[in-house]
Amino acid sequence: MDNTKLELSQKLYLETYGCQMNVADSEIVASVMRDSGYVITEDINEADIILVNTCSIRENAEQRVWGRLDVFKQIKKKKPELTVGVIGCMAERLKEKLIEEKKIIDLVVGPDAYRSLPELLETVESGQKAINVILSKEETYADISPVRLDKNGISAFISIMRGCNNMCSYCIVPYVRGGERSRNPQSIIAEAEDLFQKGYKEITLLGQNVDSYNWESENKNQPAGKQGETVKFAQLLEKVAKISPSLRIRFSTSHPKDMSDEVLFTMAMYTNICNHVHLPAQSGSTEILEKMKRGYSREWYIDRINAIRKILPDCAVSTDIMTGFSGETEENHKDTLSLMTFVNYDYAFMFKYSERPKTYASRHLKDDVTEEIKSKRLSEIIELQGSLSEKSKKADLGKVFEVLVEGTSKKSKDQLFGRNSQNKVVVFPKQDFKIGDYVFVKVTDCTSATLIGKGID
Ligand code: 5AD
Ligand code: SF4
Repeated sequence: MDNTKLELSQKLYLETYGCQMNVADSEIVASVMRDSGYVITEDINEADIILVNTCSIRENAEQRVWGRLDVFKQIKKKKPELTVGVIGCMAERLKEKLIEEKKIIDLVVGPDAYRSLPELLETVESGQKAINVILSKEETYADISPVRLDKNGISAFISIMRGCNNMCSYCIVPYVRGGERSRNPQSIIAEAEDLFQKGYKEITLLGQNVDSYNWESENKNQPAGKQGETVKFAQLLEKVAKISPSLRIRFSTSHPKDMSDEVLFTMAMYTNICNHVHLPAQSGSTEILEKMKRGYSREWYIDRINAIRKILPDCAVSTDIMTGFSGETEENHKDTLSLMTFVNYDYAFMFKYSERPKTYASRHLKDDVTEEIKSKRLSEIIELQGSLSEKSKKADLGKVFEVLVEGTSKKSKDQLFGRNSQNKVVVFPKQDFKIGDYVFVKVTDCTSATLIGKGID
């Protein structure tokens, strides 16, 4: 593009909230927009269009976006021609209500409608509001090559599926992201190969429930000899791992009810598949898990942990815990604490239950644990996890890990940081190492958040 064209191009500022999937979606949005001639800017003040990619998982995730919209309103006061769009999960949940609520919003686009963004922006240019929140049974954006917004050039997300079929009773995801669909494996491999060619060293495969990845080629019902292929998650993982031993593979999120030994054996077979499983437990009480409609019991979850420990002795395990779900008693809460202690999680994301409209729980179960008790239980959970995380780091003292260097430490330009296979952040002196190198680091110390060590040649 020549300079005059750049001058004329409209500038897009994209802000992203929520999960890794949303980060990956913003890269799809950036790609769609760039292909239509828009230029991405990191400076909100020079933007012609602001798109905010939103999350609805908890009430407070939405509150943050409402707060941001007030800030955008101030910017629009000074620049009336500014276009403001809300995209993603909150757009899907609230639809035209968003525009009714906040007049500054010009555009509302759900997670399956990003291809229509340029067209909708034309409508906005003609002075109308524009909205597309149609969910799709097929859309996987398989053919769209994401624009990598995270500039480290080392690690990237690849979305392997969209939507969710689980219908956990508390969860809004199936309502805002639609049903589950798996993306064509060839397009996944091609994207991973392309990233590797471009110098990327780590890929994270993303899905709401990667263990239920299932792709069947269309000619499956053809006569013998011409039959199509069925690709499950373990096979996909293997195909991606085979691209190169120096391409690291991570994935998220695993579901306890679906995580198979086959996936664990595949992880064990390829050293470049990282030794880390994020396995959200939510609760340690079978009674609560039943109410949550999670599809597993405490015993089943423990069985999955035992399988990880047996097949992958060096594997880190992290989790999501939700406290104060409908009817949760002190005893149920103690079950959660005891499960955490049993598993010895390396880290955890911990939340208070937040009732979400439309969900089974909001229609049939009372949000009857008081805010005070939710807070008290959450503090206990956070405190326990703090000591487990510390224990997990202390156990690494003296060990040597292969670390993929991701950048220069924020605290000192003489220090680099990266992660080991277990997803723990490791900081060490720069010496002659550079971003993208694999470095063997001996751990000598740790803080609450990081391992500290020294590279060995
Ligand atoms: N309230 C609180 N936390 C929730 N999560 C999902 N839905 C809710 C809700 N209604 C948490 C779960 C999930 C993580 C992504 O967010 O722990 O694993
Ligand atoms: Fe991600 Fe769920 Fe939030 Fe949507 S609602 S952004 S899927 S965490």
